[in-house]
Amino acid sequence: MTEQPAPENPEGDEPIKQRKNGLYPGVSDELAENMKSGWADTELRDLRPIPQAQETARRRAGLSARFPGERLVIPAGNLKTRSNDTEYAFRASTEYAYLTGDQTQDGVLVLEPTADGHDATLYLLPRSNRENGEFWLDGMGELWVGRRNSLTEAQRLYGLPCADVRELPAALAKATGPVRAVRGHDAGIEAALTDKVTAERDEELRIFISEQRLVKDAFEIGELQKAVDSTVRGFEDVVKVLDKAEATSERYIEGTFFLRARVEGNDIGYGSICAAGPHATTLHWVRNDGPVRSGDLLLLDAGVETHTLYTADVTRTLPINGAYTDLQRKIYDAVYEAQEAGIAAVKPGAAFRDFHDASQRVLAEKLVEWGLVEGPVERVVELGLQRRWTLHGTGHMLGMDVHDCAVARTEAYVDGVLEPGMVLTVEPGLYFQADDLTVPEEYRGIGVRIEDDILVTEDGNRNLSAGLPRTSSDVEAWMARLKG
Ligand code: GLY
Ligand code: MN
Ligand code: MN
Repeated sequence: MTEQPAPENPEGDEPIKQRKNGLYPGVSDELAENMKSGWADTELRDLRPIPQAQETARRRAGLSARFPGERLVIPAGNLKTRSNDTEYAFRASTEYAYLTGDQTQDGVLVLEPTADGHDATLYLLPRSNRENGEFWLDGMGELWVGRRNSLTEAQRLYGLPCADVRELPAALAKATGPVRAVRGHDAGIEAALTDKVTAERDEELRIFISEQRLVKDAFEIGELQKAVDSTVRGFEDVVKVLDKAEATSERYIEGTFFLRARVEGNDIGYGSICAAGPHATTLHWVRNDGPVRSGDLLLLDAGVETHTLYTADVTRTLPINGAYTDLQRKIYDAVYEAQEAGIAAVKPGAAFRDFHDASQRVLAEKLVEWGLVEGPVERVVELGLQRRWTLHGTGHMLGMDVHDCAVARTEAYVDGVLEPGMVLTVEPGLYFQADDLTVPEEYRGIGVRIEDDILVTEDGNRNLSAGLPRTSSDVEAWMARLKG
């Protein structure tokens, strides 16, 4: 890879002519002059607003109404160093993308209070200056990182005024009056605010945006369906290459799913869990460096993230050779039954906790029936004894974050009531650790989870991930078909 020059002098009038690190030769006056001209006007003049422009405007209006008279600062975030001068792939903050539809690094949304609400401005890095050499000599120059939208183009796309983000820190440092910011994404912007914000007030802003996102609008539901549909294709891809994974490792599965995510979407929404054999009992197994063996199960928990940053979160536990053993099937069918009970409890007006309780009860019944824990079931559930093998909560909100709306208040989420438009996962599991001496040896090293993405509708629910089979016999038939 070609080494990038360090950023320097992006806004000054002085021409950039010499690399600081000395790795680049100086630029002659003649070359500097030559590089200034001979470039076509590429301004895009017929851009249409992004499809969700009305929704983002409505979300900003909701935010404005909640915090009258206060300046609100919502950054997209900056690149993060991976090593030396290479960076991790950028992913805009959820709050910023939700409120603007934009995903540009270093962008900042500012809502400036007015007499009757707020004026929103999107602060972005404009196109590179060609007069001072920035576009080809600066590390963030467009010849290094690619063309950006002009501020006029961005204004058309996102439907709100845009300004140069390099002017924002000084403007914020001078501004007076109450301000709240979404923290943790842009240290430079936070530094400009330092003595005017408190952690508690900032947290109220983050909580409000998290709760705004609990109920999805039609655009968001469409995006989540796209994410799930791509994920279904990714699972099919994996089944088709299980022989190659057997010849290599779990990494083949991770790479196969990632290919689908990158070709059809923005990325994976979280680290893919490609857990073969006993790795399935590790809840977030993302090392994915183990063997894939015929006769074992593969627990695949993966989700494609769309270009608009909505992610699926789906799990299937597959027999690697296409057929469950009797014991694998018994455990799988129990988890399926628990998931069915959980999904049936997802409906408007139900408590969020209901589907968890319904699934846990079924799993407790099975564990008692199999003699792994002493009944009665009531006692097991009351003391939570089943949790040695069920381990985690049965689901969570899903959206732009895989564990969506994570800072919503308990009363609005975990202790809340389901409403149409909420999307959540239902994902019971049973996990028998390889070193669990309390279960018969044949159970040890078996982990099963089934996870689907469920939309709460007016009269019940809809399984967005119904495109993947769920019963053990349907899974086997589906695998046989795909393996041809
Ligand atoms: N993929 C993480 C989870 O299922 O919550
Ligand atoms: Mn998952
Ligand atoms: Mn999940």
